[in-house]
Amino acid sequence: MINIGLLGFGTVGIGVYNMIMERKDYLELILKNQINIKKILVKNLNKDRKVTVKPDILTIDEDDIFLDEEIDIIIELTPSIDDAYRYAKKALSQNKHFITSNKALVSAYYEELSTLFEDKNLKFLYEASVGGAIPIIRELKIQIKLNEVTNIRAILNGTTNYILSNIYEKNISFYEALKRAQELGYAEQNPSDDIDAIDSKRKIRILSTLGFGTSIVEDDILFHGIGNISSYDINIFKERGLKVKLIANANAFNGKYEVSVFPTAIGAKDIFYNIDYRKNIISFTGDKVGELSFIGEGAGMYETANSVLSDLIETILDKDFSNPLRARGFENSITNFKGIFYLRMSNEKINIPKEYIKEIISEEKPFVIITNEINILDLIEYIKEIKNEDYSIIKVEE
Ligand SMILES: NC(=O)c1ccc[n+]([C@@H]2O[C@H](COP(=O)([O-])OP(=O)(O)OC[C@H]3O[C@@H](n4cnc5c(N)ncnc54)[C@H](OP(=O)(O)O)[C@@H]3O)[C@@H](O)[C@H]2O)c1
Repeated sequence: MINIGLLGFGTVGIGVYNMIMERKDYLELILKNQINIKKILVKNLNKDRKVTVKPDILTIDEDDIFLDEEIDIIIELTPSIDDAYRYAKKALSQNKHFITSNKALVSAYYEELSTLFEDKNLKFLYEASVGGAIPIIRELKIQIKLNEVTNIRAILNGTTNYILSNIYEKNISFYEALKRAQELGYAEQNPSDDIDAIDSKRKIRILSTLGFGTSIVEDDILFHGIGNISSYDINIFKERGLKVKLIANANAFNGKYEVSVFPTAIGAKDIFYNIDYRKNIISFTGDKVGELSFIGEGAGMYETANSVLSDLIETILDKDFSNPLRARGFENSITNFKGIFYLRMSNEKINIPKEYIKEIISEEKPFVIITNEINILDLIEYIKEIKNEDYSIIKVEE
């Protein structure tokens, strides 16, 4: 019998519980073991949960799980960072495998936890932390054994993709699109991690660290959210046959890397063009395998639970405990990050050198230009000088 302790019983936790119950017979057949969710840690015992479980299975005392010697596997599905880190360390000290869907935790402590669990021949698995349903982590772990990965490009956040698609399709404002996403449960009541590109940054941090074999932390990544993008901006690109997507991009070249998350205008020939609403896409390029692309739901109860359970199967069946992070010591080259950018300033025109400007779209309020290929950090310096908070920048890839 394999006993599991679940930490968290919200959207993903209930998805995992229901899936295990639904597929118990088949899972037990392939795993050649009985599976038992022995305890579930929650915050509030009296919450109405839309799922019936034996009353003594829920607990608010983490030691009911960590000190239970019969529990072999911890599945961590909470939104916390600090508590989740403590849970990971406790799992380690009690020799329990650790599976998590918590990208904030993985991003914050990726190298440390990978090494600690590997050193004790315990699994530390996090397939659900990036791309929801998309099976990307396991695939990347296989391909880096055979390939030099040189690029990872992705739409990693369903909330922002949903908002941008809605503005484009329905010609509604950013706030209407956000409200719609919140009403449908696709956006949190406090959506700042998604809108400000922090969620995408965490996910590309995980993918690029794994893919390139060098430690790329959140602070190494240049990022810009979609909070200032208006239907005005989207419509300008729509008239030109382009769509705006929040794209994470990671390049490795000559011992250097450049990782960014930017709202990006792309044309219809780009495979990312038709990845709309809540869909995610992750493409990576290996020197042997070429470009591989994976498309799927980036979130959702069963979509995410499916990835968690793929980690459970690996934990039970696969005895390879290596977490293949490498330390190649690449240099961060993001200060040289260049591109063509769209800039809209709501109030004042800024004094940008003429050679920066490729096209002036609007001269007066708003002042709107497309730049020549420039270093984005230089442009941001100019904007900072006039202290204008209401501007939007979109990278143009066409
Ligand atoms: N939802 C998705 O589609 C999705 C997709 C990919 C990854 N994730 C990640 O998966 C994790 C869980 O997401 P979710 O949507 O299932 O969250 P959720 O619906 O808010 O559920 C969170 C659960 O964790 C419990 N909890 C909260 N803080 C805790 C703490 N400090 N210690 C122990 N338990 C705690 C809550 O207890 P109570 O029920 O008592 O309040 C609740 O059961 C997050 O890290 C999220 O980023 C979610």
